[in-house]
Order: sequence, then structure tokens, then C-alpha cells
Amino acid sequence: MVARVIEVELFDLVVFGASGDLAHRKLIPALYHRAHDGQVPEDARIICSSRRAYTDNEYRQWAKDALNEHVSDLDEDQLSKFLARLRYVQIDVGSGEGFDALKELLDDRPDVIRAFYLAVAPDLFGTICEHLGKADLVNAQSRVVIEKPIGKDGASARTLNATIGKVFAEDQIFRIDHYLGKETVQNLMALRFANALFEPLWNAAHIDHVQITVAESLGVGGRAGYYDTAGALRDMVQNHLLQLLCLVAMEPPESMNADSVRDEKLKVLKALAPITENTADKLTVRGQYTAGASAGGAVPGYLEELGHDGSSTETFVALKAEIANWRWAGVPFYLRTGKRLAKRVSEIVVQFRPIPHSIFSEEAGSITANRLIIRLQPDEGVQMQIMIKDPGPGGMRLRKVPLDMSFADAFKIRNPDAYERLIMDVIRGNQTLFMRRDEVDAAWAWIDPILAAWNASKDMPRNYTAGTWGPSASIALIERDGRTWAEEGF
Ligand code: BG6
Repeated sequence: MVARVIEVELFDLVVFGASGDLAHRKLIPALYHRAHDGQVPEDARIICSSRRAYTDNEYRQWAKDALNEHVSDLDEDQLSKFLARLRYVQIDVGSGEGFDALKELLDDRPDVIRAFYLAVAPDLFGTICEHLGKADLVNAQSRVVIEKPIGKDGASARTLNATIGKVFAEDQIFRIDHYLGKETVQNLMALRFANALFEPLWNAAHIDHVQITVAESLGVGGRAGYYDTAGALRDMVQNHLLQLLCLVAMEPPESMNADSVRDEKLKVLKALAPITENTADKLTVRGQYTAGASAGGAVPGYLEELGHDGSSTETFVALKAEIANWRWAGVPFYLRTGKRLAKRVSEIVVQFRPIPHSIFSEEAGSITANRLIIRLQPDEGVQMQIMIKDPGPGGMRLRKVPLDMSFADAFKIRNPDAYERLIMDVIRGNQTLFMRRDEVDAAWAWIDPILAAWNASKDMPRNYTAGTWGPSASIALIERDGRTWAEEGF
């Protein structure tokens, strides 16, 4: 099947922080791809802004460099057309200088969709929204996009959401969790709700446990300043991993309508059994990497990257979550994520229960319970592990084999980056893949007690050597329950 490209409505997109890292690596390349594919109307404007004093042409050169670095098959003709769409307005969001010039530009056509993408440090979200409000730039056609982290705990998230909520209505606020824009993450919904096969088995009666691993091989690098104020629990678990857990665990929504999907995710978040000061020690493990080797080369430890000692920020988390509801009671969800692990790999493993009774003799060999593996990245795909008879003579011998589907092999189309889909959804006004305010609150309500327990504890994160799978305590966390981390695809 070929990809279907439907042009979106005419829009003006204003990118704040347009000379930053996110714009360089993700936003400008995503917009280029969608313009190239014919999804961006001819007259749509991409208005880039930052504190720097660029002319339109100087910014175009910056964007060209970004595209040269991050897009492998640049088409010269498309490139010059794309660059010609870019406009630049210098804005100092601190003093508010520049908002008048932006207003003058946007007021040319007040009726077109107007999206403000805040690709800036989170402490500027509120200020920019206030300026947009004061400058009278927000109308019924406007919407705002913000990136995580949304707050650093429940209270700060509520304050931020309230500030933004004074200027934009909830259906105008697009809170990005870029994991929701990944093709394979959306495929989770297709897999669960477009197949009759899984749903009858998708519960505690048939599923033993679920594992969600998001492992990165890179360290914090140049982001150490931000990262040290966050840590893996806030940076990855509060958002990406919990969103993945919700998609695995939620009830079938009534439709793909944004609120139907988000209502179901919210119920899962609310049903998460609290991890408290009394249980955090048993149910969570945090780690911090020390110097080691990655991709064959020596790499520094977290504290060396940070430039000073004494940080107790975790770069690794493993935890055991439980969902206290009828479908999932007693089924652990083991989550783990970390920087500088042995490999970059993200997978969801659904481990089914063993067969209730074997009719085979001992010579047939052991029977491994079925496992469904959803590989999010790299090598996106789905694998179902089943038992078969070993082919050929030798009697009935059983063997585990993968029913394997690699998306790259099955579909010869470019795998779009999450941001492409998400930016187009902002323009289309489709909130399905964005977090609603109450979801953010519910996620923090579960995370806050873990943070509090860690703060109250005298323990420091456990060290792990860069290039390994994290502290050995994370292996003990799952092995205590008689289970092991699945590492087939790794
Ligand atoms: C971001 C985190 O949200 O996700 C980063 O802030 C992390 O620390 C990144 O590296 C991982 O995203 P991806 O798409 O590379 O898995």
C-alpha cells in the first residue's frame, strides 16, 4: 500500500526557539519532509523566531545546514522551495520585544490556522503564552504546542497548565509526547484493536507480565545541565514509558476520537497502584553510569559529563508497576529505561502464561510460553514467539520460533519521524496523540511519591558501568519474581 498524503488546511506556524537543537534535529527536517510529500499548502508560512539577529536569508542558511545534516536524500529543487517558505522574526521572549512585528505579520490573515510551537526551555512556556495573550495574537484559530517536561512535579505542572490555560483553551493546547507519534507506537493500537486475535487473551488470565524497555546507548552529552535537574524518572518514565504502558493496558476506546482514547489512558494512570516510601525500595531501582565503553570506544561517566561530583540524579530506572483493576490485577508491568546502556533498543514484551497442561512426552523438550514482542526502535516490527514441531524425522520435538515481521522489510516506504505526524496533527486539530491536562496530573500523581521516597532515602543511585544493562539490582528486581528481562531482540 502506498502512503496517502492529504494536504492540510492553510496555516501559519510560528516556531519559538527556532535556532535551537529541537528545531535543528527534528522540526525543520519534519517540516521539510511533509512539504516535500505535498502535505503543506503552497501558501503556508513557517515563521521562525529566536533571540538571535538573523535576516530571513541567514536563517535559511541555518535551516539548510540543519537539513544537510539530518536529511539523507535532499532534493535540491524541493529544498529551495522549502527554504523560500521560511521567514524569520527576532523575538526576545524575556522583554517581549519583537511580538509587535510578529503580530503585524500574522494579522495579514487572521482567519488561517495559527500554531505556536514553543521549542524553548520549559521555564519560558508560561511567559511566551502571556506575551501571546497580551499581544492579542490568540484567536479561535490559534493553538499552542509545548514539549515535555511539563513541570517537575505535580504542583509545578498544575501551575504551568493554569498559566497556559489562561490564554489558550484546553482544546487549543497540544502537549507533545513524541513517543505517541512513533509509527510503531501507533501500531500498538492497530495491533490491539484491529485484530480479533489478541483482545480475548489480553488480561490477567492469560498474560503473565509485561516488560517495557527504552534503552539508550548515548549519554547525556551537552544536555547535562537540564538532565541533572530532571533524571530518568521525570525525563522518560513520567511521560514516554507511562504512555506506552497506557496503550498496552487501556480498555478499547469507543473510537479513535481524542477524548475517547485519552479517557481510557487516564483510567489506567489512575489505577496504577501507588509506590510509597515503604515500598519504593523493593519496587524501584535507580542507577547512574560511570565511565565505561560504548560502541567500542571509552566514554566518560555521568559526573564527568556533568562537570562536578555529588549529583544523585538517576540516569537509569527500573521499576515494577501494578495496575489495580479487573483486567490487570496481579500482572506486573516491569519498566526500565536508561542512558549509556549496552544498546539503543525500545521494546514492549507481552509474556503470556504457560499452557495449562502438556500432552507431549519429555523427549519433545520444554514448552516455552508465547511471547509477543513489539519492537519500537530500531528495526521496528512485531514478533510473536510460538512453538512448532521441529521439522523432519526424529519424532515429536518441539521448538520455539519467531513469527517475525520487520516493517522495513515489509513496507518499502520511508519511516517518518514522530514529529512529522505530530506537527500535521496540530494543524489538523487532532488531539488523539497529545496528552490532556488530567493525564499529566495523573502521571505526576503516581510519580511524585516515588520522587519523595527517593528524596527521603539516604541511598544514592547505584553505579553501573557505561555500556552495560544497568545496575545488577535491576536484574534482581525481576528475578526475585522468578522472571528475567527479555533480551531476544537485543
Ligand atoms: C526525550 C528525552 O524526550 O526522549 C531524551 O528528553 C531522550 O533524554 C529522548 O534521549 C529519546 O527519544 P528517542 O525518540 O530517541 O527514543
